Amino acid sequence: MRTPIIAGNWKLFKKSSEAVDLVMNLAPLVKSVGGVEIIVAPVFTVLATVKRAIAGSTIKLAAQDCFWEEEGAFTGEISPGMLIDAGCSHVIIGHSERRQYFGETNETVNRKSKAALAAGLTVLFCIGETLAEREADKTFDVLRTQVRDGLTGLTKENLARIAIAYEPVWAIGTGKTATEDQAQEAHAFIRGVVAELYDHPTADAIRILYGGSVKPENIKGLMAQSDIDGALVGGASLKADSFSAIVNYGA
Ligand code: 13P
Repeated sequence: MRTPIIAGNWKLFKKSSEAVDLVMNLAPLVKSVGGVEIIVAPVFTVLATVKRAIAGSTIKLAAQDCFWEEEGAFTGEISPGMLIDAGCSHVIIGHSERRQYFGETNETVNRKSKAALAAGLTVLFCIGETLAEREADKTFDVLRTQVRDGLTGLTKENLARIAIAYEPVWAIGTGKTATEDQAQEAHAFIRGVVAELYDHPTADAIRILYGGSVKPENIKGLMAQSDIDGALVGGASLKADSFSAIVNYGA
């Protein structure tokens, strides 16, 4: 059985006092939820502050990116070990916004994933096609390449500490969620690629999250799909009431 993950990607929002308010409001609302891993991903500057605020709760901490070197002359970067030091257990890697605006490629995503795993972090590994790619019928090719190249060199054991987040770029921040069928189809395909690259037990065990306009209104239908094991939530993770409603999808 795959334990679902509901993760909130706060993107470039929430200064320290807002971040603390959010998790302080969230913690009591999700306290009694069992069997769901709950993760929040604030900006780097508030990671340690949020870590203190979630102490004693079941909420886990993720960063939104990391570099692949542990230290050195790399101005502006953050290393996996520094994220551990700040209290992170998880890191988001390869988010489409980083691929789109910051030159992230399957190769950089691969290097970052390896470094993050080596440091002991669990990776939320993001993939997804653009609207143009979907309309050109390239969705499956794009997803296959992203999985194959992004995971190059990773072992079966490594995959136990990776969750894949399928985020169709056209569904992010647009209010246009993939239909349950579209999401399920993509998730089943991704699981099939993992089975081809590794084996069936590895594919059966890996958690595949959906992301893109997830809301309290659509989470139940998405989670009812057999290959959807959770969600990576953007906008709706910025408020305690909507994020807790998503975490409580099973209630
Ligand atoms: P939205 O939920 O705002 O569409 O964002 C999804 C996302 O990019 C999560 O990483």
